[in-house]
Amino acid sequence: MPGRLITVEGLDGAGKSTLAAALVDALQARGIDVELLREPGGVLLAERIRALVKDPELTCGPRAEALLYAAARAQLVEETLLPLLRSGRTVLLDRFVDSSLAYQGAGRGLGVEEIATLNAFGTGGLTPDRTLLLRIAPQDGRARLDGRGEAPDRLELAGAEFFARVADAYDELAAADPERFRVLDAGRTPAEVLADALAALHDLLP
Ligand code: TMP
Repeated sequence: MPGRLITVEGLDGAGKSTLAAALVDALQARGIDVELLREPGGVLLAERIRALVKDPELTCGPRAEALLYAAARAQLVEETLLPLLRSGRTVLLDRFVDSSLAYQGAGRGLGVEEIATLNAFGTGGLTPDRTLLLRIAPQDGRARLDGRGEAPDRLELAGAEFFARVADAYDELAAADPERFRVLDAGRTPAEVLADALAALHDLLP
């Protein structure tokens, strides 16, 4: 694929969105034309699914949840990601398949292998060139979320054990694929995290 796909992963409250926005500015300042997208979302169908999966008033079992995330992802890949990558663009994506492996595969207990198979079907096997894992202890992520003072969405209502399983799964995914993953310490200042992220991408970008 001519373009590069960079994903940002981590627990809720790790600071992914802050890092992604800062990275876009930093890369554009270096003359790299980068497109920022988020999951679930990025295209109309996926943004609608995002509203459904996050709604605390809706009952949504683990299997339906996994399928909804996978459906949103499939549409994003087909409608936007593949055309951008084929045209040589660099894409920065806030969450991708690893989120489903960690949250639905491990967190909801559906099985990481099963969710990988589901998503291979949905994405046609598209794999990021680099994944930045913003690592934070689950209790610190939770404290940051609470500090924002916003009403928790359906996923954020899950308990501490759920987020501990998600965190462990992220660590295991990163350990299993050190070529693709770079683990960043989310406890550092935003400027330090940005510098770490740029260093973790230097071999990949012009
Ligand atoms: P966020 O983009 O605001 O972090 O919200 C997305 C929420 O959805 C977050 O709690 C993580 C969760 N999620 C999954 O459980 N599985 C997925 O595949 C994705 C993309 C997100």
